[in-house]
Amino acid sequence: MCGIVGYLGKNDALPALIDGLKRLEYRGYDSSGVALRLTGGIECVKAVGKIANLEKKLGGKERRADLGIAHTRWATHGEANEINAHPHSDCSGKIWLAHNGIIENYKRLKEELEAKGHIFKSQTDTEVIAHLIEDTHEANPFIAMRKALKMLKGAYAIVFIHEDFPEKIMAAKMGSPLVIGLGDGETIIASDISAIISRAREVIYLDDGEVVEIRKNGLKILDVLGAEISKEPRKIDWDSGEAEKKGFPHFMLKEIFEQPEAILNSVRGRIDSEKGEAIFEEFDAFTETARSAREIAIVACGTAMHAGLVGEYMFEEMAGVPSKVDYASEFRYRTPVIGKDTLLLAISQSGETADTLAALREGKKRGATTLGVVNVLGSTIARELDACVHNRIGLEMSVASTKAFTSQTAIMALLSVYFGRQREMTFAKAKDILNELLLIPEKIKKILELSGEIKKIAEKHIKAKNFLYLGRKYNVATALEGALKLKELSYIHAEGMPSGEMKHGSIALIDDDFPTMFICLKDSVYEKNISNMEEIRCRGGRIIAVATEGDEKIKSVAGDVIYVPETIEPLSPILAAIPLQLFAYHMAVLKGLDVDKPRNLAKSVTVE
Ligand code: G6P
Repeated sequence: MCGIVGYLGKNDALPALIDGLKRLEYRGYDSSGVALRLTGGIECVKAVGKIANLEKKLGGKERRADLGIAHTRWATHGEANEINAHPHSDCSGKIWLAHNGIIENYKRLKEELEAKGHIFKSQTDTEVIAHLIEDTHEANPFIAMRKALKMLKGAYAIVFIHEDFPEKIMAAKMGSPLVIGLGDGETIIASDISAIISRAREVIYLDDGEVVEIRKNGLKILDVLGAEISKEPRKIDWDSGEAEKKGFPHFMLKEIFEQPEAILNSVRGRIDSEKGEAIFEEFDAFTETARSAREIAIVACGTAMHAGLVGEYMFEEMAGVPSKVDYASEFRYRTPVIGKDTLLLAISQSGETADTLAALREGKKRGATTLGVVNVLGSTIARELDACVHNRIGLEMSVASTKAFTSQTAIMALLSVYFGRQREMTFAKAKDILNELLLIPEKIKKILELSGEIKKIAEKHIKAKNFLYLGRKYNVATALEGALKLKELSYIHAEGMPSGEMKHGSIALIDDDFPTMFICLKDSVYEKNISNMEEIRCRGGRIIAVATEGDEKIKSVAGDVIYVPETIEPLSPILAAIPLQLFAYHMAVLKGLDVDKPRNLAKSVTVE
């Protein structure tokens, strides 16, 4: 998704801005641009495609500037070309502006501005904002921006600079993230903390409706009512080394291999083995609300939604609480019947996904208590939740989410113990789950050793154009997640579904060219899964099975078998997901694709 970086400080702005853009690359983009305040005025350079293309266009020419803004664009209005790339300008060419989000009323505003004589160059909604600021005819650009904002409908994070004001960056936030990093004699404003961590150890998160004027000698922040406020900077607890590959060829592989440690970090301090309880100090103020809740409504998108699906099964089977997971993008449109006795549980790695945020706000509006599992502290969702559990897994850079899924699923297990012990879960049952959870990291390490073997299986199937992913009960979620990983990374069409559902239509697709990845573990649905595998095999379908160590019988049905260690059924998606992540990774590498930045995808989708 689009990325913003703005720089004002004692050092050279251009390298700082390019470094910031590179650190935002992981979010996905299709063009980029930079506007620099040079002695002769503002120079803007843009390029389509990778940031390397922008660097090429900049041509290594010396450009000394202490102020500038830069942007990576993920097209929403108008194709990905140089004209549509940000920053955008007004008619005078004095205002240069970059924007994340979507301006919903831009068409009407554009027509009105054109009627007044404004000339537009691009097809973007963003350019409207530059002209609106110009159209206020206000001498002070900060006041002009605030006047222009009143006319906008939609979501935005905006930064802009003005040629006549060489020592200021103006910015505004409504619905899209914006953070300010305070470094040594320099201030960086960005849409994502990863663009900041190499230069600043303190950060200020802007809230919706806030506007800021960044000057060399400090910041002026106004709240939604226009009153000046002071905001306490927070310390950044991520090490800038987390944004490096640390010897791995891709962030994705590094993050797959980080999973044992990531899970330990997620559960550390949250298990009381003596009492057989899960501890969530974050929920202290809501213990009674959680105990008396009638139901849990889970909202999330993409991979996080799959972790939520495991949560739904766990909360019902183990904690006895009626639960339902929703695609966050559907939640508020389907008129959910929820209220004061509902716990709404939002799951989001980035904490900035627009649909999840909208679902959370819908839950609040309807009176639900909102709890959540978020990895990025200080993100919008983390701040808006009534209580938030932090994943503590460090930065996830790869667009395809891996360690976030297993961490979220581990936290779902802890939450099932938390809710379960408030209800009828026995001490023995709770201890069983908690003890097994602590063994999961070592079991993951064993699966990671199979990476080479999984690569060989990927080589065998590299020509397949379609894949079916099947699983039952807890591993329906794993099948959906495995299929998503393959689609995201290798652009192979893959469908995930409950194995029992396959015979109601999809089985028609099965032939020798349409392989199936089958999660078939030694669990309560093993025999049913074996029958479904037979149905595929006798129609000529090739099967790769993810099976439980020691299961020899499965070899008579599946052509390839990847073994994972035994665990209890609810935790099995954590283990079964790992070979599927590795399989998708190897498929993409074998096809020569850009694993960390798959086409068309964004790490954090901040538009609806
Ligand atoms: C995007 C990413 C997915 C992610 C989803 C939800 O689509 O590409 O990998 O699962 O957003 O993101 P979140 O940050 O809310 O977990």
